[in-house]
Amino acid sequence: MSENYESTSMRDLLCGSVDASLIGRRLSVCGWVSKRREHGEHLAFLDLRDRSGVVQAVVEGSVDVRSEYVLRVTGTVSRRPEGTVNDRLATGEVELTDCEVEVLSAAEPPPFQIDERSDVDEQVRLKYRYIDVRREKMQRNLRLRAVVNATMRSAMMRQGFCEVETPLLWAPTPEGAREFVVPSRLHTGEFYVLPQSPQIAKQLLMVGGFDRYFQIARCLRDEDLRADRQFEFTQLDVEASFVGQEDVFAFVSEAVLDAAEAATGHRPEPIATMTWALALDLYGTDKPDLRFAMVMQDLSEAFARTEVKAFAAPTVKALRVPAGAEYTRSRLDALTEHAKSLGAKGLAWFRVTSEGLDSPLARFLNAAESAAIASVDGAQVGDLVLVVADEYEPACKVLGALRLVIGAPPVSQGPHRYIWITEFPLFEGVDDDGNLVSAHHPFTMPHLDDLDLIDTDPLKVRSQSYDLVLNGWELGSGSVRIHRADIQSRIFAALGITEEEAQNRFGFLLGAFRYGAPPHAGFAVGIDRLVAIFAGEDNIREVIAFPKTQSGTDLMTGAPKNITERQVRDLRLRFAPKG
Ligand code: AMO
Repeated sequence: MSENYESTSMRDLLCGSVDASLIGRRLSVCGWVSKRREHGEHLAFLDLRDRSGVVQAVVEGSVDVRSEYVLRVTGTVSRRPEGTVNDRLATGEVELTDCEVEVLSAAEPPPFQIDERSDVDEQVRLKYRYIDVRREKMQRNLRLRAVVNATMRSAMMRQGFCEVETPLLWAPTPEGAREFVVPSRLHTGEFYVLPQSPQIAKQLLMVGGFDRYFQIARCLRDEDLRADRQFEFTQLDVEASFVGQEDVFAFVSEAVLDAAEAATGHRPEPIATMTWALALDLYGTDKPDLRFAMVMQDLSEAFARTEVKAFAAPTVKALRVPAGAEYTRSRLDALTEHAKSLGAKGLAWFRVTSEGLDSPLARFLNAAESAAIASVDGAQVGDLVLVVADEYEPACKVLGALRLVIGAPPVSQGPHRYIWITEFPLFEGVDDDGNLVSAHHPFTMPHLDDLDLIDTDPLKVRSQSYDLVLNGWELGSGSVRIHRADIQSRIFAALGITEEEAQNRFGFLLGAFRYGAPPHAGFAVGIDRLVAIFAGEDNIREVIAFPKTQSGTDLMTGAPKNITERQVRDLRLRFAPKG
């Protein structure tokens, strides 16, 4: 029998493993009726489905079963009559005959067809998720997720990591999203906070001498939901002591590449690195999608003394769109609107034709400027060149966003292109109160060469933090942590976090650091995103058993819901009027 063989007290094997090697044997299978066809008055063909596949049972006499009834069928494995073999079915050569049918459970007609071909509204799928996950695709996706988890877990164990579970009822963590809070009954007026990640707990485990920790950890963040975001998601969370960035890359690569191999059957190449600065310069983003070429080029030099007002800016960035000369005016207008919606003052475009550049702006350019545009990224006749002039970062980001709109296939398509992005800036900007804002979290170690810049030119300070990017999605992120009190105080000061506030929020971590903190570093991989891409899905909901909708509701349970009067009383909650 095949490896699907799974004998229990109720069945001998799985539906999908009934094959020609078993002809003549009398066997029991269990499952759901996926299809019923009548043949004359006294013969019915039932397709019985379980997680492994479908087998046909030929039932004589009248049986009162309908779609999705749960049956136990005992029959003799027989070769199908000539002309009725179904090549599309793994069990298509055989059928069960002389069947005894036992109805284990009756079923109402399902709210939608369970076969893969029917296109069912997602709201309905989510409301009846327990039926939706009977479908082959959902079975495949969730099983793939289990394989990815198991593979990564074993890769971490093999590398000497110890899995430690950390609390869900916790205190604020420093990831920066809005938090879910849980009122305490025993301490009314006080709240637990659901962890945005095990960040602080894992750093405490380093102080605790665990050396190499990992966890397949649930994380909770009250943020706007998108294709790649849920309130609850899962990380492969990793932390290690006495290591540097390169060590973390090696640990995490091993787990991710093992998972890729298990999921796709083929092991990707070792993952290359790119600095944040280069990613921004070439791709206009810290999450470069490397599945398609199209790199940006800097024309600032050629336009340094331009007479064209639209290009009089510190940075002039250009992007070649292969074969883009055929873009219609309305498509170009739409791109321009998109650029403006991202904050650009405008978007210039140039068709490269055999007679030179074709654009409303072409006649204003001098010869050197025309030549620069006409040769962007090896431009050829038939291409289009897009140009944005602005401050450096906005120019890069706007053009980078257009690059994606124009060139990027859905995230799940095409090859899987991984890249480590390194040397992120330590601070991402300044808030309304004039305080610096961390790009990662406040325990991220600055680049040691840049320590002096903290006071003089803080936005130039590089950090020892890094991301893993796959097909333009941020798959994970991590950093070398600060384990020295003096550096931590300087960073808190720069972030405008007072000593008192730091003690209040993270006092237990800072306190722990006084008792011998090893140098440590870590990382977290977003498992939902990784599995979605492996599964060929563009939305992580498709790889989560019971996800929330875009508006954060669970259509099946009705959550979020009212709680009982009694619960409200116990928690001593009072609600402010809506408004
Ligand atoms: P970060 O906040 O970057 O880092 O999260 C790490 C990875 O988790 C995934 N992720 C999400 N996936 C689905 N839905 C969400 N709402 C969501 N938010 C994040 C992403 C992301 O790259 N403690 C640090 C890691 C560390 O420094 O060790 C952290 O959580 O794939």
